[in-house]
Amino acid sequence: MCGIIGYIGKKEAIPILINGLKRLEYRGYDSCGVCIHDNNLLKIIKAKGKIVDLEKRIKKENNLNSTIGIAHTRWATHGIPNEINAHPHFSEDNNLAIVHNGIIENYDTIKLLLQKEGYVFKTQTDSEVIAFLVNKFYKKSNNLKDAVLKALTQITGTYGLLVLSKDKREIIVARKGSPIIIGIGKNEFFVASDTSAILEYTKNVIYLDDFEIAKITDTNYEITSLKNQKINKEIHKIKTSLDQIEKSGYKHFMLKEIFEQPEKIKDALSGRIDFKNNRIVLGGICLTKEFFKNINKIVIVACGTSWHCALIGKFVLEKYLRISVEVDYASEFRYRNPIIDENSLVIAISQSGETADTLAAIKEAKEKKAKIFGIVNVVGSTIARTSDCGIYTRAGPEIGVASTKAFTNQLVSLWLLTLFIGQKLNKITEKETKEIINNLNNLPEKIKIVLNESKKIKEIASKFKNSKNFLYLGRGINYPIALEGALKLKEISYIHAEGYPAAEMKHGPIALIDKNMPSVFIINKNKNYDKIISNMQEIKARGGIIISIATKGDEQILKLSDHTIFVPKMDTQFTTFVNVIAMQLLAYYIADHKNCEIDKPRNLAKSVTVE
Ligand code: F6R
Repeated sequence: MCGIIGYIGKKEAIPILINGLKRLEYRGYDSCGVCIHDNNLLKIIKAKGKIVDLEKRIKKENNLNSTIGIAHTRWATHGIPNEINAHPHFSEDNNLAIVHNGIIENYDTIKLLLQKEGYVFKTQTDSEVIAFLVNKFYKKSNNLKDAVLKALTQITGTYGLLVLSKDKREIIVARKGSPIIIGIGKNEFFVASDTSAILEYTKNVIYLDDFEIAKITDTNYEITSLKNQKINKEIHKIKTSLDQIEKSGYKHFMLKEIFEQPEKIKDALSGRIDFKNNRIVLGGICLTKEFFKNINKIVIVACGTSWHCALIGKFVLEKYLRISVEVDYASEFRYRNPIIDENSLVIAISQSGETADTLAAIKEAKEKKAKIFGIVNVVGSTIARTSDCGIYTRAGPEIGVASTKAFTNQLVSLWLLTLFIGQKLNKITEKETKEIINNLNNLPEKIKIVLNESKKIKEIASKFKNSKNFLYLGRGINYPIALEGALKLKEISYIHAEGYPAAEMKHGPIALIDKNMPSVFIINKNKNYDKIISNMQEIKARGGIIISIATKGDEQILKLSDHTIFVPKMDTQFTTFVNVIAMQLLAYYIADHKNCEIDKPRNLAKSVTVE
């Protein structure tokens, strides 16, 4: 989704802004632009498409040197992706410019009112009204911050907003529902929607909260509420290092992130298991034993890949805790008047911690007094800060748009949470705990075995680059992995793929089977094995192509399948981890054979901050 960076200091602003925009590319965008001070005027340069195109345009300009500026990558919501609709947007007289993330819900009402006053709009965006409105007040008061404050009182919707005027060395920043951080450097300040944009310049940041506004000058920053009351904010130190957000020799971030999984799982487990006493140690849990005892239900809310993790969470939590678990798409949850109360635990799972639908679900749950437990990857993100308590998944920055390592670490976190609650409620035996801990500890080595199959998976993938459709089939705890496999493939290769419980296939999707239709079966050795074999036979009988993800040494599967990817033998509940790695690699290599833009698939955004 849209990305923001701003700079004020003593250095050349443009290289910093462009570099920041490049760091934000992974979020997904369709156009971009910068605005700087230029000889007592504001200069805006924009481009449809990539940042390299913007750079080319900037190079054509002579003598651009400014030490203050704002910049933006746009992911179109209102108005097609073109140069005019790209941010920054000028006010009607070019005296100020804005960049905006989020959506102004009442923009057409404001636009109409302003048009009646004679204002002429140039873009189809909702954001342009902010520039016009702020300027209207600015012309009266010559106080930029006051003007922004006044404008915000008339705006409904969400915003991460930066405002720059031609005659003041200051950037005004405001936030509601769209993340903004202020980076504090030495005699310089940065503003961004995402830490990766400023990581190489400073690690000291302030997270702006909703309904806060900041005025940043060369020497100072001042944060106030929308009622202009001063707020003292804590300065946080970002722990992420620069090499974590670089490709380190891999062709794509996605591939790097797939291969990072063994190490990231170790990070997720590190310090959280007390081996001596066989106990789980989680720091961020503020809920009492009493609360856990009285839980009437657990609801997990999430979107996309995180929702698939939630589906697996249901299997795990219900099995050990014997508490009913509902899994909801976050976007649906708030609209169905969910039956929850102060004894309900709502678990919100999110990689980015900024997903608008998940945040809205949390808000709904909070209104109904449920307790919110966040399983979040991005430290300091809005969901992390909005939850009552939670755990960080510790997958590190995930740059590839398709989620991979974040998913496996979410799953590890769910296992840890299950053990934690199970121990609190004495619902998990010593023996079960030992087995689970043992399985969790073995994950990195087991995953490495699948990663070592990557050459073979690449070869299999080459045969399917021209396929138009795929079916993904799995049962039980591996049904969500079938969904995840299908999602990965469609996201990055644009091949249509559907995931189903294997047995459901005969209730409809079987009509699709012919000699061109590949079906990916997840078939580990477990109690569902024979049933899945029957489903495979049904496909075979209709001439379909079968790719199996099966347990090493399974000769029967070799005979039934056109292609087989072997994964190591494991306790069924933990096969999800190795199966999903095979799925990720299969999708990755199919997309790579098709020369797709894997890290930045069309139309997708890494962090979906609009509802
Ligand atoms: C898929 C993917 C998305 C996200 C979804 C939720 O690869 O990345 O489906 O899982 O947009 O995002 P988070 O987890 O950031 O809330």
